[in-house]
Formats: sequence, structure tokens, C-alpha cells
Amino acid sequence: MEVVAADYEVFKRKLKGTIGLDLNQYKQQQMQRRINQWLQRVGAANYDEYIKMLQSDPEERERFTGYLTINTSQFYRDVSVFREIEDKVLPDLVQRFRRLRVWSAGCSTGPEIYTIAMLLEELTPGVRHTLLGTDFDVGALAQAEEGVYADNLLNSLPAKYKQKYFTQDGRLWRLSEAIKDRVRYKRHNLLEDPYETGFHLILCRNVFIYFTQETQMRLTQQFSESLVSGGYFIVGNAENLLEPEMADLKRVSYCIYQRA
Ligand SMILES: C[S@@+](CC[C@H](N)C(=O)[O-])C[C@H]1O[C@@H](n2cnc3c(N)ncnc32)[C@H](O)[C@@H]1O
Repeated sequence: MEVVAADYEVFKRKLKGTIGLDLNQYKQQQMQRRINQWLQRVGAANYDEYIKMLQSDPEERERFTGYLTINTSQFYRDVSVFREIEDKVLPDLVQRFRRLRVWSAGCSTGPEIYTIAMLLEELTPGVRHTLLGTDFDVGALAQAEEGVYADNLLNSLPAKYKQKYFTQDGRLWRLSEAIKDRVRYKRHNLLEDPYETGFHLILCRNVFIYFTQETQMRLTQQFSESLVSGGYFIVGNAENLLEPEMADLKRVSYCIYQRA
């Protein structure tokens, strides 16, 4: 496939109109490489031809969105961070606020927000906290709502939670209805849609790495405004917030920040 820079600019503009994602806010090199690989895989000769394929084929739009947005996730992902959440962040929050509002932004197929649901059930059995999972990719959200997972997504989850909250079905694991019931899912584009407010805890993990620095700083400010005072904001292990103090956030440990 022949890659022409000006054509890629036109492609990005048309893509925003077709699937609604503004690629200018994602790191360019990485994104363009992935897109070129995909075009080769589907046999499109150039960007223009591929846009026409997308415009005429809703299923291709869904496949491409799933591919672009990268849905990798796991229960209790990054054990040291989740231990900190389990032992310090959640006990601190329930002690101060009793009933929590938690948002997993870029929740993918749900493992992160379901892990929080299990930890809260352990800490405050029967209490109805408000748990929200949002993602741009509707395919990932549909899987989250189904709550059925392959073995490897549960590798880091402590065995006691696996036994208590899942039933095995061959090589798949079905999450209990009680935990599924605790979470509400909604399609949400972090780059464009308004943010709900009043959260005690927001997790946006392994999402920032795909965005430009300018977008990361803009979203950090928006997330901070969505938190109550003293609430926590948690990003991924490989993600460091740029100038968090500008958004009234202080790093408390690892990739865990707290609003002043
Ligand atoms: C690598 S997954 C991270 C899942 C989970 N947070 C974790 O750390 O295990 C990244 C998620 O971000 C979502 N995402 C990417 N761009 C987004 C956007 N503009 N708005 C909302 N979600 C987005 C993707 O669809 C994907 O599900």
C-alpha cells in the first residue's frame, strides 16, 4: 500500500465523520502504523478505498473500531496497584463516604470495574455503591455485560475471589449475577462527551498512553473536576500524569493520585 501523508490527513477527517473518533488526539506514529497494518490485512489499496469500505459496511466499522481501540484487560491487573486499592484506597473511601460512586473510564470488557465491585462487596457486604463502566467500543461493552471470560483474564485475581464470584464453564469463567448487577455500563467517548461528576474514585488505566500529551492534560483536568474533594484518580502502571498539581491532584503512590 502506498502511504501519502496528505491522504492520511484526509482519512483522519473522514474517519471522525464515519466512526466518531478524532485520531488527532491519539499518538500519531503508533496509530498510523496500526491503521496501515489493518488496511493491508483487509486488502484496501489506499486510505480512500478503505473509507468507502467503512462507509458502506457497518460490520467493518465495528471490527475496525474494536481493532483501533485495543481492548486488552484483566481482573486485578497489576497486582501491586490493586493490593493498594484493596488495602488502602477503598477502606479509606468507605470510611469517609460510606456509599461510593466509582467510574472505570475506558473499561473495555469490564474486568477492572468488576474487580472493584468484588472488593467493595468484601469490604461492605450488601451495600449498593454506584459503579459505572464506560467505553467508546460498544463491542467491548456488550462483552462486559455478558460477564464471561477466558482463563487468562483471571490469572492475577486472588484465588479466593475466583472461587467465590465465578463459575467455571469449560475454559470460560462466568461472573456471578450478583456482581454483574452492581455495574452500569454506558457508551462514552472520553474525548467528546460530557463527564458525570461526584465520583469518589475514577480509574482510567491503560488508556492515556494512546493519547497525545495535550489531550492527556486536558482529560486530567476533566477527571479531576469529576472527583469529589479527597477522591482518587488512578491511571495505568506505565502512565504518569503530566503536571498533576495543575489539576489539583497529588500523587500518593504508584499511579494513584488524590484530589486536594
Ligand atoms: C487497553 S484497554 C484498558 C482497559 C482497562 N482500563 C484496563 O486497564 O484493564 C483501553 C480501552 O480504552 C478505550 N478507549 C480508547 N479510546 C477511547 C475514547 N476516546 N473514549 C473512551 N474509551 C476509549 C478502548 O476502547 C479500550 O477498551
